[in-house]
Amino acid sequence: APRVVTAPTAEVGDVAADVVAAFIRREPTGVLGVATGGSPLDLYSALARRRAAGLDTSGLTLVALDEYVGLSAADVRSYRAYVQTLIAEPLGIPAGRVHVPSGADADDAAAYEATIDSVGGVDLQIIGIGRNGHIGFNEPGSELDSRTRVIELTESTRQANAPWFDDDPTAVPTHAMTQGIGTILDARALVLVATGAAKAPALAAALSGPVTTDLPASVIQRHPDVTVVADPDALSGAW
Ligand code: F6R
Repeated sequence: APRVVTAPTAEVGDVAADVVAAFIRREPTGVLGVATGGSPLDLYSALARRRAAGLDTSGLTLVALDEYVGLSAADVRSYRAYVQTLIAEPLGIPAGRVHVPSGADADDAAAYEATIDSVGGVDLQIIGIGRNGHIGFNEPGSELDSRTRVIELTESTRQANAPWFDDDPTAVPTHAMTQGIGTILDARALVLVATGAAKAPALAAALSGPVTTDLPASVIQRHPDVTVVADPDALSGAW
């Protein structure tokens, strides 16, 4: 069963950073899978502070979960830009060791799987959870053995991500390229970060509901090494 660690909202990033920093000390040239979005922002700034305090993060390889379709790589709202400016640069990781799906052409999905294989697979994968239980952009209905592919985003997800697009859900791309559920499960360890009551129903179902394509995050129950770091609000559902 997943290890569940509760922390006050303001400390979730630091507690998750403890787990990631322990991994980095063990495997300074390891492969870190990175989620984007709001949930892990404090975790990434906590890691940058630890780097300033002497943790060598510069040897890592970064592998992103997903990318919007239809944004240019230079677009500040692209996940390429997020990973570059909020993770790679603060952690001193050179661009050659930063991998993000292209989102440009559906044919690039298989190439992304090959990229992940070529770096030896993901050692530690940071994930968030959508209000509808998605992980990566694997929306409900995604096959549990799915691989990297282009998927249509649900209205709920476009609504949730509107704050990054001037609060205009219609400006959020309709499609994304995402690692599949099977791809994510191949990571050797998972760290799920969640805060806020909006995540409570999905997180409770992920922790103790049936493992089902209706709630992709429920697959964490099938992974042998999962740490959930969440605040009391996110854990306020029945699980
Ligand atoms: C981001 C990702 C998504 C988010 C999820 C939660 O790369 O794959 O699954 O983790 O949508 O988003 P936030 O953290 O913004 O609530």
